[in-house]
Amino acid sequence: MSRRLEIPMPSEKQKLFLTDTHKYICFGGARGGGKSWAVRVKAVLLCEQFPGIICCIVRKTYPELRENHIRQLRQMLRCGSSDRYASYNDSEKKITFPNGSVILFRYLDTESDEGRFQGTEVDVLFIDEATQQPEQRWDILRACLRGVNQFPKRIYLTCNPGGIGHEWVKRIFIDRRFRDTERPEDYTFIQSLVTDNAALMREQPDYLDQLRSLPPRQREAWLYGNWEIFEGQFFEDFRPEPDLVAAEAAGCTLSKAELRAQRRWTHVIDPIDLSHGEPRTWNILRSYDFGYGKPFSCAWWAVDYDGTLYRILELYGCTETPNEGVRWTPDKQFEEIARIEREHPWLKGKRIEGIADPAIWDASSGISVAETATRYGVYFVPGDHKRIPGWMQVHYRFQFDENGYSRLYVFSNCRAFIRTIPLMMYSKTRPEDLDTDLEDHVADEVRYLCMSRPVTPLREVPKKVIISDPLNMFQEREY
Ligand SMILES: Nc1ncnc2c1ncn2[C@@H]1O[C@H](COP(=O)(O)OP(=O)(O)O)[C@@H](O)[C@H]1O
Ligand SMILES: [Mg+2]
Repeated sequence: MSRRLEIPMPSEKQKLFLTDTHKYICFGGARGGGKSWAVRVKAVLLCEQFPGIICCIVRKTYPELRENHIRQLRQMLRCGSSDRYASYNDSEKKITFPNGSVILFRYLDTESDEGRFQGTEVDVLFIDEATQQPEQRWDILRACLRGVNQFPKRIYLTCNPGGIGHEWVKRIFIDRRFRDTERPEDYTFIQSLVTDNAALMREQPDYLDQLRSLPPRQREAWLYGNWEIFEGQFFEDFRPEPDLVAAEAAGCTLSKAELRAQRRWTHVIDPIDLSHGEPRTWNILRSYDFGYGKPFSCAWWAVDYDGTLYRILELYGCTETPNEGVRWTPDKQFEEIARIEREHPWLKGKRIEGIADPAIWDASSGISVAETATRYGVYFVPGDHKRIPGWMQVHYRFQFDENGYSRLYVFSNCRAFIRTIPLMMYSKTRPEDLDTDLEDHVADEVRYLCMSRPVTPLREVPKKVIISDPLNMFQEREY
């Protein structure tokens, strides 16, 4: 154990973080701002300087710990080699320094993980990606900060806007709305955006492009560190009418009617006849969200040879008169679905792939809904029901390319989609998610479908920027 440890240069924002002395410091607030790097370096510097302290790095899952911290720290501290600076014990998930200081790696995701924290005592806690943790975990973690030594106790958090912990992190560190038990002078927030991370901008300049091509709200949050965005209408990117402003911004001066006829900068289009020609050969999919006592939602989709989705038909639990169909039993629903598939000219004779909420395979109350469906010759595969990635897929589908073409269209006869999608609002308690108290059955079924055929976000059309204005260069010269 010899050679000195080399620590690369921190960015300006990381320097602020490394030198700040508040008891609770929240660092980052955006993607790629060098948060995990700062956590690792701060933990090492503290361990070097203060013999016998216990640091603990917390992340939601073990794979995240391994990929963001353990691997890098083992390498930085040369844990396996003969001139190691510190040693790593894999079964204890712990790095020990020669002076007795340690870094523990702990994951915190489930209730049983919470239990393991109860007996833990640490001097310094790092909660990486704190917005992935609900507020009760903040209380559990704070309670671990104790011990009889003289070392001052500290908690360092990193975060992005969004996630289940958005509200509590925002309350304390962004809005600074403190409770009686919290001393404002203990808390500080240091913002670091990807653009503050010179190392990343240099090594991986296209990471910035990736953040730029996110749907608008996510981009505001992750690229610019805006915390105020997850409110209001959830699908503001859905365009039931051609978007003249977007068309004009892209240099297109067609009228609304012309844009609509060309299916540009709009998501709702006049039906295409799918019984003839090439459209007759397009694959047909069916998406389904079960409901009984609340609306069920079933839709049929055509997929063209570019992979563009067209919502062509739908059967919704309450269409014409309020609540009509809401009491349709599963049998009645699948009987009707089977009939439509047998008789409708766009569907009859086609092999139809069905995608549904995995919950319909639940047979705890006897026969499952999926099994009932098979009795009518209606088959499904279980969809992926991850919510946030699913909504991202729907947003990606709504993006327009530079010519105004979308990757998802809705025939104008699909009234439940056109009526309910604009009604969706952001959840008040789970940012990035939608409010599940609303009529979200179409949205759910669309989400399962989009998740079954994921796409990557479209790149933003690069705007022309004059990078070096000769006049400025002239002014900047020193004479
Ligand atoms: N000061 C630095 N010097 C060298 N590389 C850095 C520095 N800060 C961050 N990086 C690198 O930039 C990338 C993103 O940093 P990371 O800490 O993972 O960001 P975040 O956790 O905020 O998403 C990583 O590859 C990391 O190693
Ligand atoms: Mg990170």
